[in-house]
Amino acid sequence: MIDRKWGAPIHMHKTEENNERKRNMKIVYISGSPRKNSNTDYLLGILKSQLGGTIIKLSDYHIESCHACMDCRGKGMCVNNDDMNKIVIPELLESNVIVLGSPVYFNNVSSQMKAFMDRTHCLIGFLDNKIGGSIVVGRKYGAESALTAINAFFLKHNMIPANRGVSGFAFKSGEIEKDAEAIEDTKKLAKRIIELWEIVENENK
Ligand SMILES: Cc1cc2nc3c(=O)[nH]c(=O)nc-3n(C[C@H](O)[C@H](O)[C@H](O)COP(=O)(O)O)c2cc1C
Repeated sequence: MIDRKWGAPIHMHKTEENNERKRNMKIVYISGSPRKNSNTDYLLGILKSQLGGTIIKLSDYHIESCHACMDCRGKGMCVNNDDMNKIVIPELLESNVIVLGSPVYFNNVSSQMKAFMDRTHCLIGFLDNKIGGSIVVGRKYGAESALTAINAFFLKHNMIPANRGVSGFAFKSGEIEKDAEAIEDTKKLAKRIIELWEIVENENK
C-alpha cells in the first residue's frame, strides 16, 4: 500500500523508508561560521544526521573574494584557481541539494559566506532547479535579513528554496542546544527537502 503523502510503502520501517526516499539525493552543506563548536554547524549536523551528505566549512579553505574580472561568465568555473574552484565548485555542481548555514553578522551573513556567494557568479545557469536550504543563527537581531540574503542567492541561481529557512537564536558557542524550536525547524527542513527531492526526481524520470 502506498502512503499518498510520501509516496512510499507504509509497511516500511522509518529508516528504510527515508533511505528509499533519499535515493540518488546528493547534498552539500556550506558552513559560513569560522567558529569551532559553532551553533550553525550544530544545526547543519542535525540536518546531515537526517539526510547524509558532506559539510564544507568555508574557513577551513583558502577562498578569496570575487575580483569582478567578469572572465568567468558562462564558464562554470572561476578564473581564480583557489579552493573555491578546486574543491567547493565541483561539490556544488555534483549536488542536487545545497544547504547554506551562516551565523548572523551585522544583520547579514558572515563574510566567509558572502565571499562564497560572490564566487558562484561563474555558476549562473549551472545550479538551476537544485534545491536550497537555509539556516542562520544569531544572538537576537537580523536573522531575517540573513535568511533573505541566502534565499535571494537561491533565486538568483534559479534554485528552489525548500522553505523560508531556519532561524536559530544563540550567542555563545553551544547555546543553540537550548533552542528547541530551531532544532525542530531543522528537522522540518529535512522533511521538506526529502519531499521536494521526490517531486524533482519524479519530474526528471
Ligand atoms: C562580527 C560579529 C557580528 C555579529 N553580528 C550579529 C548581529 O548582527 N545580530 C545578532 O543577532 N548576532 C550577531 N552576532 C552574534 C552571532 O551571530 C552569534 O554568536 C552566533 O551564535 C554565531 O554563530 P556560530 O556559533 O555558528 O558562529 C555577531 C557576532 C560576530 C562575531
